[in-house]
Amino acid sequence: MKKALAIALVALVALSGVFAGGAQESAAPAASDNLIVVGYAQVGAESDWRTANTQSFKSTFTEANGYRLIFDDAQQKQENQIKAIRSFIQQDVDYIVVAPVVETGWETVLKEAKDAGIPVILSDRMMDVSDPSLYTCWVGGNFIKEGEDAGKWLIDYLKKQGRSNEKINIVTLQGTIGASAQIGRTEGFGNIVKTQPNWNMLAMQTGEFTQAKGQEVMESFLKSYPDIDVVVAENDNMAFGAIDAIKAAGKTCGPNGDIIIISFDAVAAAFDSMIAGDMNVSVECNPLHGPRVAEIIQKLEKGETVDKIQYVVEEVFDTSMDLPAVKATRLY
Ligand code: AHR
Repeated sequence: MKKALAIALVALVALSGVFAGGAQESAAPAASDNLIVVGYAQVGAESDWRTANTQSFKSTFTEANGYRLIFDDAQQKQENQIKAIRSFIQQDVDYIVVAPVVETGWETVLKEAKDAGIPVILSDRMMDVSDPSLYTCWVGGNFIKEGEDAGKWLIDYLKKQGRSNEKINIVTLQGTIGASAQIGRTEGFGNIVKTQPNWNMLAMQTGEFTQAKGQEVMESFLKSYPDIDVVVAENDNMAFGAIDAIKAAGKTCGPNGDIIIISFDAVAAAFDSMIAGDMNVSVECNPLHGPRVAEIIQKLEKGETVDKIQYVVEEVFDTSMDLPAVKATRLY
């Protein structure tokens, strides 16, 4: 719970508009409240997945649920996240939650949080630190497994199409280089590529997890490589951009088209894209981490121990399924 001094400091910071590098949102606290104060250093707003993740935190960490959330949007910049964490430390929050933009470069600021006695919970993406005691725990998707699931799906799909022995030309639109979701999906899909001698990875380039950049990189892939069989987009928004580029180039994609589209996240718009016949498959990455992090905080409040690494169970969705029925059961 917040101390009186810390409450006064939060109020001062909120009122003076002295915020961290990103766009920080917080209501000025009442001096007598008993809320648990959580600072969330979010990556940005680069994708539908990220929007769903932000919404999950904002709808979980409410005053009605006993929390005050200080939310910072780092606009995909690590330096903004570091500034946000320092601002949370200065405000003496009860917990810091970080979805790190990239894995490396966090030791110094995590040490500052540890010295201040503030637990740091990692959500979604991981940090690569030499001292694991610098953070309390991590919860998120298994990105290597997601990449491997995508590769296994392609083996199975080509088999059903009678194309197992054909030469298959692949391009990959990678996420933000150095982000766990990029590292894991690239590695996982690469593990399966190694087992298929007839698969040929023509090119891999970052599309920064955004639709606009995904479209731009796909346009250049199409100019350089006239015979692409498969696009692996490391998130749905880059896949949407790639689909636009493919159509603009006069080609087709999806189950009845020239190019197979493999994607990740399984957001609502990906279901629409599969139902429309543009995308073949989306490997789920579940963004609803707000309640999971709240459960961790509640355990810590009671002095209970929590598992250091907590993977979320995820599925694979493709056009062989009753997608409208599945979509109707989903929350994002
Ligand atoms: O870290 C999760 C990834 O980040 C999601 O796949 C992507 O859409 C987001 O930007």
